[in-house]
Amino acid sequence: MRSNHTIDMASSCWGNPAKYHRPMSQNGASSALVGQPALDHQWYPVALCEDVDPGPHGVRVLGRRYVLWHPEGESITAAPDRCPHREAPLSDGRMVDGCLECPYHGWRFGAGGRCESVPSAAPGTPVPPKAHLDTVAVEERYGLVWLCPGTPLGRIPDIPQEGDPEFRRLNTPFQHWAASSTRITDNFMDFSHFPFVHTATFGLAQETVVPPLEMGGLPNGFRGYAYEVNANNTTDAGQAVTGEDDDVLRRRMTTGYVLPFSVRSTIAYESGLEHILLLLTTPTDDVNSLFTFVVWRNDDFSVPAEEIMQFDLAIGAEDKAMLEKLEGVLPMDLTATVSVQSDRPSVDWRRSLAALLAEGAAA
Ligand code: FES
Ligand SMILES: [Fe+2]
Repeated sequence: MRSNHTIDMASSCWGNPAKYHRPMSQNGASSALVGQPALDHQWYPVALCEDVDPGPHGVRVLGRRYVLWHPEGESITAAPDRCPHREAPLSDGRMVDGCLECPYHGWRFGAGGRCESVPSAAPGTPVPPKAHLDTVAVEERYGLVWLCPGTPLGRIPDIPQEGDPEFRRLNTPFQHWAASSTRITDNFMDFSHFPFVHTATFGLAQETVVPPLEMGGLPNGFRGYAYEVNANNTTDAGQAVTGEDDDVLRRRMTTGYVLPFSVRSTIAYESGLEHILLLLTTPTDDVNSLFTFVVWRNDDFSVPAEEIMQFDLAIGAEDKAMLEKLEGVLPMDLTATVSVQSDRPSVDWRRSLAALLAEGAAA
């Protein structure tokens, strides 16, 4: 029987259509993502490290453009994508002698955003102090470049399998999804959509009824839930991932989040195979996102990475097709949409995000 109980959320206006598209948070503040002070202090994955080898590589985060480049012999540098001379986009420049060269008048920028040369100036002329770029924080982790637009207060999710020789790590290129990061993260916390959205991959074997889900702390600072599902295992791509040829496999899973938009799903098969998925979403603006995922597996490393990723990419494409039909930002006001018991995890994430946004607004 389908479970259809509403979660205990004090409200008398479930699904009030007048509120449906209004991006308002629980405290009445706008829940649009761009301009939320709290979000400026979080880390966002923006590129594969190899995309910035050496660069320049342009990205957009929360409505602002940044340029990333890899100065020779130094670590990756990120700065607003605006030349201080006449505001040309530095991401349209090129790397010359280990420096980022502006495409307009050729000023060159090295490590830490230092302006190293102004070609129009006579040799020996000092560089104006304001010609140096203000940089933003970057970190390289899991084959990804992470960027924080403001002072870092959040954290990059901790994945201990990264240093475990039993596991290999697999990366995929970043994708642009025409969907809000709020919609995407809500989806990744939810598994009641599996039998309806993931029909061509693994979802058909799952029952539609979702058992009661208990939210709590998961290892490594994630908050989420543990559950078991039956997964279809009938496609060649799926069997390459699972290493089994039974039509249906039992999966033990956990799914949890780290604010604002990181979700980890762990999948353990009866064979002992573990498959860790880190699903990462970066808001380029309110309603567009960058998406990538990283996989860690303790398999025998015999199946090529492309074959393994093909299955998860197909699952992601099913989510993308659905999510790009949903307009706007998911309202942080819980009363603006109707939730049932199976939505408990995504509602928990939504409450936490709303609290983070409210804290930032209050500060
Ligand atoms: S605008 Fe960049 S050098 Fe002039
Ligand atoms: Fe999905």
